[in-house]
Amino acid sequence: MGPFTQIVTMDKVRYNGPVTSKDLNIAENKWIAVDRGNIVGIGELLEFRQLFSNDYSIQEMEKPTVLLPGFIDCHTHICYGGNRIDDFSKKLQGIPYLQIAKEGGGIFSTVSATRKSEYSDLLINTKLRARSMMECGITTIEVKSGYGLSVEDEIRMLKVIRQVGEEIDADIISTCLAAHTLPPDFNGNKKEYLDIMAEELLPEIKRQSLSKRVDIFVEDTAFSVDESKSYLHKAKRLGFDLTVHADQFTAGGSTLAVDVNAVSADHLEASGDKEIEILAKSNTVAVVLPGASMGLGIPFAPARKLLDKGCCVAVASDWNPGSAPMGHLLTQLGVLAAYEKLSVAESLASITCRAAKALRLSDRGKIQNGMRADLVGFPSSDYREIIYRQGQLKPSHVWIKGQQI
Ligand code: NIG
Ligand code: FE
Repeated sequence: MGPFTQIVTMDKVRYNGPVTSKDLNIAENKWIAVDRGNIVGIGELLEFRQLFSNDYSIQEMEKPTVLLPGFIDCHTHICYGGNRIDDFSKKLQGIPYLQIAKEGGGIFSTVSATRKSEYSDLLINTKLRARSMMECGITTIEVKSGYGLSVEDEIRMLKVIRQVGEEIDADIISTCLAAHTLPPDFNGNKKEYLDIMAEELLPEIKRQSLSKRVDIFVEDTAFSVDESKSYLHKAKRLGFDLTVHADQFTAGGSTLAVDVNAVSADHLEASGDKEIEILAKSNTVAVVLPGASMGLGIPFAPARKLLDKGCCVAVASDWNPGSAPMGHLLTQLGVLAAYEKLSVAESLASITCRAAKALRLSDRGKIQNGMRADLVGFPSSDYREIIYRQGQLKPSHVWIKGQQI
């Protein structure tokens, strides 16, 4: 396929610290060759014609098009029932998110709505949300459970998420977030709840291959650092990759994430210099969620500082009905970039190769031979326009494993 005005290969982007336009290693007016879903060449059409002598098809770009690796949204909660419009109205009156949760709104109201939803409705609505993300060029979507909060309901959510992955073209990566908040049926006994999840739910998830990842919301109103630590260790012993909702309102979760060698620590709005230093020295990806800051009206995570100190920074939408209902990653990233002074290169790395690292996926996020042919084309001759237009420039082409969708 080609020719592309610019191919933003990202193949010189390191995983940590600042990124400049040079690191993007842009190829101009080149073609891409794809075989069996993978990239097998970046070069001239003539050269491909000689290499692949017989059976091939050509897709020609009629207008100027810039090509990038398909985007990766490494943190979402798009499987849910109901909505939280009432919570939103309360937030606009100045009532804080955690207070709304204490008064019966918040995460648990979505748990009730999700438990009440028919399986087929959850499936349809999750697919609709995933499709709207694909239209924005997102080809890999992480989706968390966490609105079931019982063995049975968490399994049901993970089955919905698995079926979404079977029925749409995007690659769906599921995460078990049974440790999202304590359901009221446990009368405040967080340890008992986490023990049941670790001893009954997680082994069942393994048995049914429903997920390889475990997440927890570390916050005193959800689970404290100590409560979380033993749960995460148990999950790790079962072979799960770990990720943490960390430092959203108070610091603590990110240091725990590093201690347990989590693949990512997500949120970080409340991270200070100490937390940033610890993350920078670790292998844990710092995932910034501007959609949650925009949804709650709270400051952004210190993305600039995280990068300058040497962290690997990914950006994700956190699409959920409570704190981040917008679900538009490119808009959120464009706004974050303007506030936090992220370069266009840093912004694009945060939703491609660095987001791939947050999901431990080594086969995507860059345009290189051998990588999956998950690609997004935009109708522009300057890749910077994608961030400049803050989500309003829409892709003209999306390919997943080489198939145009
Ligand atoms: O990432 N902070 C905890 N979890 C979600 C919000 C979920 C909800 O409010 O329904 C988040 O912001
Ligand atoms: Fe989240």
